[in-house]
Amino acid sequence: MRAQQIAVIIVAAGSGMRFKSKTPKALAMLKNWPLIHHSLHIFEHIPSIHDIIVVGRKEDLRRFESLHSRFKKIRAIVPGGKTRADSVKCGLLALDSKTAMVLVHDAARPLISQALVLRLIAAVRRHKAAIVAVPVKATVKEVDAKGWIKHTPKRSYLWEAQTPQGFEANLLVRAHQRKGGDATDDAMLVERLGTKVKVVMGDYRNIKITTPEDLCIAKEIA
Ligand code: C5P
Repeated sequence: MRAQQIAVIIVAAGSGMRFKSKTPKALAMLKNWPLIHHSLHIFEHIPSIHDIIVVGRKEDLRRFESLHSRFKKIRAIVPGGKTRADSVKCGLLALDSKTAMVLVHDAARPLISQALVLRLIAAVRRHKAAIVAVPVKATVKEVDAKGWIKHTPKRSYLWEAQTPQGFEANLLVRAHQRKGGDATDDAMLVERLGTKVKVVMGDYRNIKITTPEDLCIAKEIA
């Protein structure tokens, strides 16, 4: 797989309901920069990444347009869909046909590092599909709809998935051709094809900004 054929899809088309702000979450400020700038900056400066596709809500796209002048690798800014999987699909349609590897990243995770992304790219080159994740620190319970515990999975086998997640482009396209409205990440769709996905060490600082409190935490650790 040639290094120059790597594209990144950054999804930022969620409703941001839990963020409770009129500003799109991806444009909320974190240390003088909008949230989405942080991850864009990392991807822009990795030489093997050649294209970035930003997926936003249709009504927010005008506000994202200025990203083009700041980040030269942005190939397209496209409207997303109803679910996260729909939005990734919209991003896939904007890829250059020569793309060999795709990294999918949530705009809601601004605190990635270049080292983390390079770890992921190396794993995708080797295994075709890989994600960054961290071992869970808490005991996790599976519960039924009425709140009764059904099962306590062995903690040492539990990892919390993060983004970016990376795949050979053909594999990710095939995974998204199937129905996947319920998928909360891309690995889930690739797993459903029966393909093995490698987990590599993520970073506990790579938190997902969902609520205003998460933004306060990010300001502390950024
Ligand atoms: O909804 P969730 O918290 O899983 O969102 C994770 C990421 O997916 C966020 O960056 C969000 O903007 C994006 N998303 C999207 N389109 C949707 C739903 C979520 O791009 N319809």
